Amino acid sequence: MAERDLLLRVSGLKQYFKINRRYTIKAVDGVSFEIVRGETYGLVGESGSGKSTIGRSLIRLYKPTSGEIEFNGSPISGPLGRDTKKMLRTKMQMIFQDPAASLNPRRKVMDLVAEGLDIHRLCPTAAAREEKVYGILQSVGLAREHAQRYPHQFSGGQKQRIGIARALVMNPDLIIADEAISALDVSIQAQVVNLMKDIQRKTGVAFLFISHDLSMVKYISDRIGVLHLGRLVETGDTQEIFKSPIHPYTRALLSAIPRPNPQTERDRVALRYDVHEAGIDYSHGVRRAVSPGHDVLATEEEFRRWTERVL
Ligand SMILES: Nc1ncnc2c1ncn2[C@@H]1O[C@H](COP(=O)(O)OP(=O)(O)OP(=O)(O)O)[C@@H](O)[C@H]1O
Ligand SMILES: [Mg+2]
Repeated sequence: MAERDLLLRVSGLKQYFKINRRYTIKAVDGVSFEIVRGETYGLVGESGSGKSTIGRSLIRLYKPTSGEIEFNGSPISGPLGRDTKKMLRTKMQMIFQDPAASLNPRRKVMDLVAEGLDIHRLCPTAAAREEKVYGILQSVGLAREHAQRYPHQFSGGQKQRIGIARALVMNPDLIIADEAISALDVSIQAQVVNLMKDIQRKTGVAFLFISHDLSMVKYISDRIGVLHLGRLVETGDTQEIFKSPIHPYTRALLSAIPRPNPQTERDRVALRYDVHEAGIDYSHGVRRAVSPGHDVLATEEEFRRWTERVL
């Protein structure tokens, strides 16, 4: 991978929450991955595995407990200088699961979409600001006249389009989409995901697509990271992960997806996985390469056992 194509590098990220003197939640426990410009990286894993925490650490809602994060060539895990902060606040954007809750009901769409521009004083004139917002609304499939309306006048799918417009107006390099379509009707989910793909083709923006819906992740992601108990247990190209998953947790996760074909659905066996029953201690494993770009967290013995079975 050429260095200039690298957008985000996360190395050994830990995010701990100290609950009291004796108890600390290790929400993210030593996670490393990279995102290349213009790609979609899917982060999957069950509820509580640490997906949202990673997203929030990246945009610095939290100060990472340890580890390094580099974005656009600048370190963003330590204290942030003024320029780095501005770069981070403009070039990395987030869209949330609940578009209704993240849009101020008392503000018009024009002001909601222009908020980032206003905060960072990116538009010299009122006319330029309006034109910018109209252009962005169009690119997410909304009309000029929508700019004068309030959030409650929109459907769920349209609200999420407003959320995407708010991110897009900053001309970001990375959009973190945390369960951004999970709350929408299934028929609307496809529309919004296709809109995101379309925007990516036009602007070259990269996505960190966080979801527990594996079929959607498979559809949208170039690469996938599988998270469990705050650790990335497997990462690789989407096709490769779906074709030859190595880690027992990944295999269990994939075995839970219903197949569209009734014939193969009948033969599907949902695997059970319990980390303790399986006798796996993630802290003993290291990242081992299955093939170029396909890594699994395993001890030497586990790696041998798991790859013998699959390859
Ligand atoms: N601010 C916080 N303070 C304390 N614990 C937290 C905090 N945020 C998250 N956690 C804990 O960290 C773990 C990971 O939570 P996180 O929200 O990242 O999971 P998730 O993978 O996004 O789950 P979901 O699929 O349900 O959204 C959970 O055990 C959660 O309870
Ligand atoms: Mg979450």
